[in-house]
Amino acid sequence: MLVYHRGYSNGIDIGKTLIPKEILNTPGRLTLEEYEQIKLHAVYGAQALAQVKALHEISLAVRHHHERFDGSGYPDGLRGMEIPLMARIIAVCDAYDAMTNDRPYRRAVSHHRALQEILGEAGGQFDPDLAAAFAALLSGEHSSTD
Ligand SMILES: [Fe+2]
Repeated sequence: MLVYHRGYSNGIDIGKTLIPKEILNTPGRLTLEEYEQIKLHAVYGAQALAQVKALHEISLAVRHHHERFDGSGYPDGLRGMEIPLMARIIAVCDAYDAMTNDRPYRRAVSHHRALQEILGEAGGQFDPDLAAAFAALLSGEHSSTD
């Protein structure tokens, strides 16, 4: 799976403003070099927010929102509880947002499918407790036809 998104989401990915739009909106597969450029958005966003002392904690959440619970994420390869809580929460929410909205390179999936994907990555991409809590919280918020 899963989430690996390039489009603009609804808020936190301010670092994407520094990534060329042609790369973010590429409909096909990215080259390795393009993907490496996209990965920098987490660092760029954190650097921008770190300019404001009161946003230090938020800058860490932005820097680490693409870390994976299993340690295979970026930019620092943190794993498990090394990843700040806020970043682990953002990772789940961001993935849901990315999956349930159309992107230039793929169509949105249903609410139900997105929750299945998130639960499927519990302990891999996501903190398993947070993935379960997120799914439980959002279960029943949509009709069974989703
Ligand atoms: Fe991101």
